[in-house]
Amino acid sequence: MAPSILAPRRIMLGAVALLIAATECSATMTVPTSFLLQQIAQTVSLPMYTWSANGTHTAKGYTSKDASTASVQGLHEDCENINLNKKIAVNFRSDVLGDGAIGYFYKCEKISHDTSKYWFTISSGEESQIDQLCNSDTKYPIVYDSQHNTWFIDEPFDCTQRTSPTSLA
Ligand SMILES: *[C@@H]1O[C@H](CO)[C@@H](O)[C@H](O)[C@H]1NC(C)=O
Repeated sequence: MAPSILAPRRIMLGAVALLIAATECSATMTVPTSFLLQQIAQTVSLPMYTWSANGTHTAKGYTSKDASTASVQGLHEDCENINLNKKIAVNFRSDVLGDGAIGYFYKCEKISHDTSKYWFTISSGEESQIDQLCNSDTKYPIVYDSQHNTWFIDEPFDCTQRTSPTSLA
């Protein structure tokens, strides 16, 4: 039996996309009007002013840290969970970016036996974290995801669009 794909830290809401959009659609309107979005913003400590990027990236999944065998089942379950439930990751890759980046993953596709493609939006109160995320030279050490019993290697994040508080005045 696979570990629960609905572990609380992974349960995500599509509404977070709206939250980010609502938070950024105007520099003067920084608090979302929806009670739901407001609650989410408070819960994840979303800063008043945020820098964001969206785009796609790929990740490879393995059954062990030496990355020798694809974790086909783990990759499949992670994709399925994202497509069904969406996923928000508070302090996303804090090992690389530091604390405070909030990642939202809302679509996933298998592209090969050991690789999935993810659509993301990420937001932070610190521009440097978004710079670092969008830099194709940034390396991400392999990390263990206990929910899917899989070791993941995040590949570079391809940022297609970026927003900053000042550009939205
Ligand atoms: C990024 O956001 C823009 C504006 O909402 C959208 O047109 C574009 O499709 C998004 N890109 C990705 C890869 O989701």
